Amino acid sequence: MSEVRFFSGEQIPLEMHKVRIIQKLYLPDVDQRFLAMTEAGNNTFLLRNRDVFLDMLTDSGVNAMSDRQQAAMLMADDSYAGSETYFKLEQKIKEIFGMDYFLPAHQGRACENIISKVMVTPGSIVPMNYHFTTTKAHILLNGGVVEEIFTDEGIKVESSHPFKGNLDLSKLNRLIEHNGPEKIAFVRMEAGTNLIGGQPFSLENLAQVRDICRSQSIPLVLDASLLSDNLYFMKIREEQCQNLSIAEITRRISDLCDIIYFSARKLSFARGGGIVIRDEQTYRKFQELIPLYEGFLTYGGMSVREMEAMTVGLDETMDLDMINQGPQFIAYMADELARRGIPVVTPAGGLGCHLDAMRFVSHIPQQQYPAGALASALYLVSGIRGMERGTLSEQRGEDGTETLSSMELLRLAIPRRVYTLSQLKYAIDRIHWLYENRSLIGGLSFYEEPKVLRFFFGKLKPVSDWQQRLVAKFKEDFGDSL
Ligand code: F0G
Repeated sequence: MSEVRFFSGEQIPLEMHKVRIIQKLYLPDVDQRFLAMTEAGNNTFLLRNRDVFLDMLTDSGVNAMSDRQQAAMLMADDSYAGSETYFKLEQKIKEIFGMDYFLPAHQGRACENIISKVMVTPGSIVPMNYHFTTTKAHILLNGGVVEEIFTDEGIKVESSHPFKGNLDLSKLNRLIEHNGPEKIAFVRMEAGTNLIGGQPFSLENLAQVRDICRSQSIPLVLDASLLSDNLYFMKIREEQCQNLSIAEITRRISDLCDIIYFSARKLSFARGGGIVIRDEQTYRKFQELIPLYEGFLTYGGMSVREMEAMTVGLDETMDLDMINQGPQFIAYMADELARRGIPVVTPAGGLGCHLDAMRFVSHIPQQQYPAGALASALYLVSGIRGMERGTLSEQRGEDGTETLSSMELLRLAIPRRVYTLSQLKYAIDRIHWLYENRSLIGGLSFYEEPKVLRFFFGKLKPVSDWQQRLVAKFKEDFGDSL
C-alpha cells in the first residue's frame, strides 16, 4: 500500500486514481428538495435521481469503473453460447479463488435462489454471522430457517472490536449439537457484514468456523459480495495477514470455503454475479438451474460487456490501492462525525457510514421511524440520499403490531471510487448542522403501507409541521446558499 504521510500530521485518505470521466451533478435548492421529498412520500427509494445531489442510497451497481474496465467492455465477444468473454471471466475466477467450477448469474440474489433451491429443504437450518434481506427471503421460501449467530459485540453500535462480523463459535457448536448436523443445510458467512454496518470477520474466525463445519460434514458458504472491504480490513487489522498480499489473503479465504457466491454489483465494480464451487456434484446440481432462471451457461443473464468489466474488476480487487478508497473514505467520515459528537457505528466498516438514529433523534419513538425521519431530514438540508435501516425496513407482525428493530441506522453508502473528499466534507458539514438542530426533526407515519417490502414502495407523512420548521431554520442559517 502507498504509505503517504502528511507534513501536517493530519490523516487524510489519498486516492490512488484520478477521475477521467465525469457526470455533472445538480443540487436542487431547499424548496425544491422539500417538494421532491413530499412527492416521494418521505421515502428515499422514491426520489428521482435528478433531484439527488449525492446518492448514498447504496453501493450496488454504482461503483466507478476504471479505464481498463471501459476498454475491455469495447472488446467483448458477443454470442449466446461459447463467448470468449465468458471463458476469460471463468479463467480469472479460477485463478483468484482456486476452485474448479464457476456458474454465472445475473446478480447476487439470483445466486441465492440457485443455492437455496438445491441446498435448503423444509425444516433445514442455515446458521450465519448475520442475515441479508434477500438471502433470508430465499431460504424461507424454500422452507428453511435462518439462525443468526453473531457475537454480542457485533450488534453494539459503538465498539472498538476490529471484527464485529465474526460468528460466535460456541453458539454454533450448541446449535449443531441441539439440532444435529444433518439438519444444517450449510453455514453461511457474509463478508463485510452488510446489515450491521459493513463489518468484517477475521481470517482466524473463518478458519475456526471451517473446522467446526468440516468435523460435522457441513458445507461452508461464503457471501463474498462485500469481500473487497473485508480483505482490506484483514490486511490492516489482522496480524497474520499483514505480510500477505490481497491475492494471498483471498486464496486463504477461499481455501476454507466450499461455495463462494457474490453480487458483482458490489464486488468487481461491475454488475452481475456468480457462484464458485469446489465439488463437481454440487456444481452439476446448480448447473441444471442456471439455464432455467438465468440464461445459458456462458452468460447467466449478464451482458458480455459486464462480464468483461467483471474480469478486470476482479483483478483490480487484488490490488490494495484499488480497494482502499472506500473503507478509507468511510473511516474519515465516521471519525470526523464522531469528533463532532455525532453518533455513528464504530469502528467504521466498509460499504458506508452509518448514523445511529436511535441516539441522533432519541426523542422520536421507534413507532415513528427515527431512521426514516432522519433520512428525510438529511435530504431536506443537503440533497443527500441515504437508506433507512431500522423499524421501517421491518415487516409488521400478523396482528399489525410493529416489529421494532434492534438498531435504527441511517446508512450513507459510499460507492467505490465515485465521490471526492470535498463532497464528503459537505456531507459531514450538513450532518453536523442537522445534529445541532436535531430537536426540530419529528417522526413519520405511513399513509400508504404495502404489506410486503414496505420500505421500497411505502409513503409516509410527517406527524407535525416539523419539516416546514426545519426548512425555515435552514434558510435562516444558510440564507441564499443551496
Ligand atoms: N449479499 C449481500 C451481502 C448484499 O449486500 C447484497 C445486496 C446481496 C447479497 C444481493 O445482491 O443486489 O446483486 O442481488 N445488497 C444491496 C445493498 C442491495 O444495497 O446493500 P444483488
